[in-house]
Amino acid sequence: MSATTDEIAPDLFRLSVYVPDFDMQFNHFLVRDEAPLLFHTGLRSMFPVLREAVASLIDPATLRYISWSHFESDECGALNDWLAIAPDAEPVCTLVGKLVSVDDFSQRPARGMTADDVLETGKYRFRFHHSPHIPHGWDASVMFEETRKTLFCSDLFHHFGNPEALTSSDLIGRTTDAMQRLNSGPLSGYMPYTRRTAGVLNSLAELKPETLAVMHGSSYAGQCDDLLGDLAEVIRENF
Ligand SMILES: [Fe+2]
Ligand SMILES: [Fe+2]
Repeated sequence: MSATTDEIAPDLFRLSVYVPDFDMQFNHFLVRDEAPLLFHTGLRSMFPVLREAVASLIDPATLRYISWSHFESDECGALNDWLAIAPDAEPVCTLVGKLVSVDDFSQRPARGMTADDVLETGKYRFRFHHSPHIPHGWDASVMFEETRKTLFCSDLFHHFGNPEALTSSDLIGRTTDAMQRLNSGPLSGYMPYTRRTAGVLNSLAELKPETLAVMHGSSYAGQCDDLLGDLAEVIRENF
């Protein structure tokens, strides 16, 4: 197992681990700033390679914030491993995540973010946009960096394979293929379509993101609002 590191936007590094058994990338994002932030801890089994990848960019002991979308092993499984090597690191998740799962699991209490809270790391400002059950999980959110307009969108736009780090090609075709593949197998039901789904995705489109930091597959650079609008239809048709 190894990690591939790419700077997909200034100070934004994508640390990618491809797992052939799943034909799938697991991507983790390091924001290099005065107070460094890691989004997605990775699975516990990935911690050694991710620690090495982070160490090629910053001293891992200086990590200040560790964050994710929803409580699942690929999102936050290695949280306690990171907390053990970074004494000032603070877990950051939604208030629901903190109250329902994280504070019982984590070695240190989390900062539970509401829609009004802003996390500043120096140059960059992060806000959580609560998105219950989108992509899945009551505690789910996506994180938006307001300075450079990057949306850390977790499992949204999930696609398979080991593609390029960053693309400006339409992600909808790839995402549709992945949703169809997932829904025809034992992992069906990956993303519920609820009466909130289109509204939440449209409100994310109104943020006019310019980069999508995608957990499984290529990240995207370009105008993202149309993609987010189209994604609601893909989820509705497949789930
Ligand atoms: Fe997930
Ligand atoms: Fe995921």
